[in-house]
Amino acid sequence: MGIVEEIQRLKRVKDAVILAHNYQLPEVQDIADFVGDSLGLSIQAAGTDAKVIVFCGVHFMAETAKILSPGKTILLPDPDAGCPMADMITAGDVISLKAQYPGSKVLCYVNTSAEVKAQCDFCCTSANAESMVRDIMKNGDRVIFVPDKHLAGYAAEATGCEIIGWKGFCPTHVKILPEDILRERDLHPGALVMAHPECTSGARKLADRVLSTETMCWYAKEMKIDEFIVATEVGILHRMRTENPGKRFYPASELAVCPNMKRITLEKVLGALQEMRHPITLPREIMHGARQCIRRMLEYRA
Ligand code: 13P
Ligand code: SF4
Repeated sequence: MGIVEEIQRLKRVKDAVILAHNYQLPEVQDIADFVGDSLGLSIQAAGTDAKVIVFCGVHFMAETAKILSPGKTILLPDPDAGCPMADMITAGDVISLKAQYPGSKVLCYVNTSAEVKAQCDFCCTSANAESMVRDIMKNGDRVIFVPDKHLAGYAAEATGCEIIGWKGFCPTHVKILPEDILRERDLHPGALVMAHPECTSGARKLADRVLSTETMCWYAKEMKIDEFIVATEVGILHRMRTENPGKRFYPASELAVCPNMKRITLEKVLGALQEMRHPITLPREIMHGARQCIRRMLEYRA
């Protein structure tokens, strides 16, 4: 039996579901029950009836699944698949920010640890950051946004609101330079440029649309356009090409590779199912604190 068949067999035996982020390796996306962005994966994790979730993504995503489904076993096939941006802020940093700006509401990007989330009021993904900032501001509250300075900058531009930010960033997305976008535009003048809000403002300003990964996939499918320049992690091109065989997709930069996302391989998925490794565990009080702010994120689906 091949590795794919063995994974499928064990999935049935263990009552497992495989969730994969849009940046996963092509062969991992191909064996997943669901491929999506952080928000879509959280919604799937909260709604599945399966006993086990094999989470093909990075650590904060598997933690979010555990917080939403504490009774399920959440397996991260490689325990070292982390997110450097999430590691750029600690719970202690959030406590200090709250002391520095009393009365503000703290909105954290889902790319944070459970300990950080437990200190925050709201959580968002790139798909709903803008609408959440707008809503918090509507109530007259000041917003502290952590940890991504680029997503904070984008949300401030999109809403016209002043946001207190933090110094975090994604080491993968900042590799996409304005000159990369200009070069690709010259090569493909008819293409629509889509950029993730984790890109720098210089890159974002050259894009036609700033979108989360799931909205990029939606645009790729629904727009009556045949060519796209994609300014985000290159793994997403596999899904776009599979779903739209008649269209053409060009990465803005071949260097935009997230090494942590690529840690998950078919062999590690098989190992996870065979030996039930590596289960996510979290202290009950951290899960409780983090769940409040994640639940609010799920209420804002767009
Ligand atoms: P999405 O929320 O768009 O899936 O992005 C997650 C991420 O880690 C981007 O780098
Ligand atoms: Fe983290 Fe960036 Fe990788 Fe997303 S692409 S998981 S933000 S390092």
